[in-house]
Amino acid sequence: MKGTFLLLITITLLCLVAFVQCYGGKGYDPLGELLKARRLKKSVKYLENSYSYSPVYVGPQEGLKEADKITTLPGQPNGVNFDQYSGYVTVDPKAGRALFYYFAQSVNSSTKPLVLWLNGGPGCSSFGNGAMTELGPFRANPDGKTLWYNKYAWNNVANVLFLESPAGVGFSYSNTTSDYVTGDTKTAADSYTFLINWLERFPEYKTRDFFLTGESYAGHYVPQLAQLILNNNKITNQTVINLKGIAIGNAYVDFETENTGMYDFFWSHSLISDEIHDNIVSNCNFSSESTVSDACNGYVAEADNMRGDIFIYDIYAPWCSSPSTPPISGFDPCSDDYVYTYLNTPEVQKSLHANTTNLPGNYFSCNDFIFDHWNEEPDTVLPTIKDLTESGISVWIYSGDTDGRVPVTTTRYGINKLGLSVKTPWYPWYNEGEVGGYVVEYQNLTFVTIRGAGHFVPSYQPARALAFFSSFLDGELPLSDQN
Ligand SMILES: *[C@@H]1O[C@H](CO)[C@@H](O)[C@H](O)[C@H]1NC(C)=O
Ligand SMILES: *[C@@H]1O[C@H](CO)[C@@H](O)[C@H](O)[C@H]1NC(C)=O
Ligand SMILES: *[C@@H]1O[C@H](CO)[C@@H](O)[C@H](O)[C@H]1NC(C)=O
Ligand SMILES: *[C@@H]1O[C@H](CO)[C@@H](O)[C@H](O)[C@H]1NC(C)=O
Ligand SMILES: *[C@@H]1O[C@H](CO)[C@@H](O)[C@H](O)[C@H]1NC(C)=O
Ligand SMILES: *[C@@H]1O[C@H](CO)[C@@H](O)[C@H](O)[C@H]1NC(C)=O
Repeated sequence: MKGTFLLLITITLLCLVAFVQCYGGKGYDPLGELLKARRLKKSVKYLENSYSYSPVYVGPQEGLKEADKITTLPGQPNGVNFDQYSGYVTVDPKAGRALFYYFAQSVNSSTKPLVLWLNGGPGCSSFGNGAMTELGPFRANPDGKTLWYNKYAWNNVANVLFLESPAGVGFSYSNTTSDYVTGDTKTAADSYTFLINWLERFPEYKTRDFFLTGESYAGHYVPQLAQLILNNNKITNQTVINLKGIAIGNAYVDFETENTGMYDFFWSHSLISDEIHDNIVSNCNFSSESTVSDACNGYVAEADNMRGDIFIYDIYAPWCSSPSTPPISGFDPCSDDYVYTYLNTPEVQKSLHANTTNLPGNYFSCNDFIFDHWNEEPDTVLPTIKDLTESGISVWIYSGDTDGRVPVTTTRYGINKLGLSVKTPWYPWYNEGEVGGYVVEYQNLTFVTIRGAGHFVPSYQPARALAFFSSFLDGELPLSDQN
């Protein structure tokens, strides 16, 4: 009994100590740190017009699908009626670089589309975060040993592929450690190579409708990968990827609106004073990193301090350190700790075909080295998104409206910069008899809010998230009436 108690305390403390890298940890805020570095002009260059096509590496894939099949995950609940696969896909044999994926098929998989999900960071794991705490079929129990079934999992309606990208994230790795210094262009290129190889391993999905989804810093990854796919599709003599649409949530896409929208959100949600907000509005020019003055950085630091010690990714949520506070949305704020314990269990890694090369250290939900050394990104991805809206694929942008890191104001300012005309005006959408959020359909772009959700939308509002996701896949706007 005492042992169990001590174990629980230890688990609870895991994310609280500074060196453990997970989103639930107090003060742990990879995207916030990245933004701060940008405002302080630790500038990174973007490889403009670096696009050129050459065929990608394709490795032998025979027998690997069968080898990747998961017999059963330790502690998984009974009655699982869909297939799961996970393993490595080599994207660069010379460097020894391999990306880890987890694939949750749907029941009746042959009738459902294929969806790739990417988490952001940069440096955060799509498996440990996306699959295990957000939209995947299983969540970890507090014992760190058993799993429970998430009935709102997105593999109810799609075959969902979780990719840990780039190398260094989650179980993905490279035998050439300099690969861990990377940026947007390389990440997109590796993800593309991954997809071409994965489709050789799972050829039945080659012609399936394919959708790209992700959140947070995947606001960079998803549009960039979509554009690469569309460009390559025009000239490749390898697999043409049947890309039908993208959806990005609480997505970091534009440096200027990220900052203006964030401090407006802090003010409108009563996290900062009138005075500090006025000072930011009149002194800050966020149009690029180089226009952010020292005075502005001073006010921003004051604002960030003034909002106090709250979980910025869901401003009304309790910390993991306050177990007596019932979570507002039913999401256990210590979930990251349970996943950390579960995924660092040798039998679990074995069942997942993960860590087959004795990777040093532990599995972490986010890798700080990756975001600390991120060396290439544009100030804005809006031009890429604009190109995508003109390409004929569907483009959806969604936003959980209680996130303070990439808040809904940021997303609306960003969309406004695109200057699209409204096709279907703002209306409330419904799910289970309640307003699920709001929708505006623009010309070739749909914006959906998810009411009462933080940054990690499916964690906090699983039913609304699944309803939104189903609408996206069906190409139909979310329901406008209560029935
Ligand atoms: C990385 O190195 C290990 C140990 O030599 C090897 O087993 C593994 O296949 C290499 N990974 C890749 C992707 O080549
Ligand atoms: C799978 O397909 C079968 C036959 O079409 C159907 O009876 C069953 O309800 C489907 N199951 C799910 C979970 O969609
Ligand atoms: C694709 O084109 C490259 C040259 O660009 C050639 O080396 C390769 O063999 C071609 N592959 C196929 C599958 O035709
Ligand atoms: C912000 O700086 C840019 C670049 O110097 C300039 O073009 C723009 O007018 C400035 N915005 C404001 C509101 O001063
Ligand atoms: C990989 O497995 C070894 C034991 O074989 C373990 O020491 C190490 O912590 C694991 N690495 C990760 C990243 O989980
Ligand atoms: C919308 O998409 C179509 C292609 O599907 C394109 O012809 C049209 O120009 C796009 N309109 C806008 C405003 O982007």
